[in-house]
Amino acid sequence: MAQLEVSDFAQAVVDRMGDCKDPRFKQVMTALVKHAHAFAREVDLTPDEWMAGIQFLTATGQKCDEKRQEFILLSDTLGISMLVVALEQARGAKALKDKPGEQPTEATVQGPFFWPGAPKKELGDDIGEGHGEPTLYHGRVTDTSGQPIANCEVDVWSGDSEGFYDMQKGDSMSLRAQFRTDRDGNYRFWSIKPTFYPVPGDGPVGGMLAKMGRHLNRPGHMHMMLSAPGHERLVTHIFVKDSPYLDSDAVFGVRNSLIVDFPKHAPGKAPDGREMKQPFYTAKYDFRLVPSA
Ligand code: BEZ
Ligand code: FE
Repeated sequence: MAQLEVSDFAQAVVDRMGDCKDPRFKQVMTALVKHAHAFAREVDLTPDEWMAGIQFLTATGQKCDEKRQEFILLSDTLGISMLVVALEQARGAKALKDKPGEQPTEATVQGPFFWPGAPKKELGDDIGEGHGEPTLYHGRVTDTSGQPIANCEVDVWSGDSEGFYDMQKGDSMSLRAQFRTDRDGNYRFWSIKPTFYPVPGDGPVGGMLAKMGRHLNRPGHMHMMLSAPGHERLVTHIFVKDSPYLDSDAVFGVRNSLIVDFPKHAPGKAPDGREMKQPFYTAKYDFRLVPSA
């Protein structure tokens, strides 16, 4: 039998997939095996280092439960989540290549703090009262050709003024809700101006980031997920323009087109007619969804 040498193992593994019935799975596994072997050869990986890697992945899995997804955090902090989002967006842009003026709103990472089943609220409701600096979020949802999307579900969630999400603090929901756009595609709601905050750093991924010499912070952002029949779901954020860490987001999620001014206003009448007794902010953003293929 011909003995396998350092340069042969990857191809030998690939050759064992001759009976694989799923061509896409075979393509993905072939590339994965080739790149993983090339990585081990490139760094001249030692047995101790490989065991440290296996122990790290084991600890990452053991840190996961219904509320904590350490593997997603690993994918996020290695930039892979955002790479996959950008690849998906590029596929959509290719489909619209004949209509350069009709590009959709950019997507970004979902993150681990989406909690399905948030309370349904009316347009104009305040979900941030007492949690931070009041901010009116408003704008319009259209398709990429500018047609308004009525009754679009708009899920929103954010951390509090200290950067903590409800699910990090306990079992009751706060600072999250579902709204529906009106017949002209408009949405509006009150919440808080989000602050920058650290991704969870008390697990193996936090240890990895510390060893890499990286900080844990994300710039201030409001999560938004928009879903409407006949359109691709959009998962994105609105980023606060004057927030620290826009240039070094721990999960690489910032898109220039999602950075929004949050002008501050003196007490008085807000654009939605609400009489404010304290200073408040506004954030206006229009979303464009891709019609389903
Ligand atoms: C977030 O924005 O909620 C988030 C995203 C990725 C990792 C951790 C948190
Ligand atoms: Fe977040």
